[in-house]
Amino acid sequence: MSNIKNKSAIYAGTFDPFTNGHDDIVKRALNIFDDLTILVAKSPVKKPLFSVAQRVGMLNNLYAKDDRITIDSWEGLLVDYANEKGKKFLVRGLRPSGDFEIEFQMASMNHNLNDDIDTIFLMTGPDHYFISSTLIREIFQHGGDIESHVPPIIFNKMKELNKG
Ligand code: COA
Repeated sequence: MSNIKNKSAIYAGTFDPFTNGHDDIVKRALNIFDDLTILVAKSPVKKPLFSVAQRVGMLNNLYAKDDRITIDSWEGLLVDYANEKGKKFLVRGLRPSGDFEIEFQMASMNHNLNDDIDTIFLMTGPDHYFISSTLIREIFQHGGDIESHVPPIIFNKMKELNKG
């Protein structure tokens, strides 16, 4: 395994929408890594509410002032993106609600596909472990209050996009 110091990492996800739980992982990953690529996955199986371009746009707005963060999108294998960009670390948030088995499987498969690549797990914070993007979308679509679970920029964009 390479040394983590002075390294960059990728935080991939569907981010439909990006939540405070994701933001918490980003901030903590930046205590470990020098820079981070937030990679929006197309994830057609999930039938996302927002297009990739909309999700990328929201994240560019959210992190416009932080030059340690790059926003990108990708449709293929995560390890292929990492290879192309010369990155060796993937960051994942772990929630206590059954994430471990699937994360273990994904991290093992990614390492198997490219043994230069390792996954670093951060425990999801106590204020966020019970949220997921699907729940946030569902509550939002039914007019429920999601404001405390998504960054203000994302909340405002969601309201705008919902009107249009
Ligand atoms: N706080 C709050 N919610 C969180 C969270 C956190 N810290 N971490 C994850 N979640 C939520 C997400 O919002 C997501 O909610 P949803 O299922 O309602 O959309 C859920 O937990 C699962 O998140 P995650 O495991 O990150 O799934 P994802 O769909 O967002 O991302 C990819 C999965 C895109 C990273 C993965 O499928 C991938 O790498 N795909 C590329 C193709 C590939 O390489 N496949 C082989 C992998 S071995």
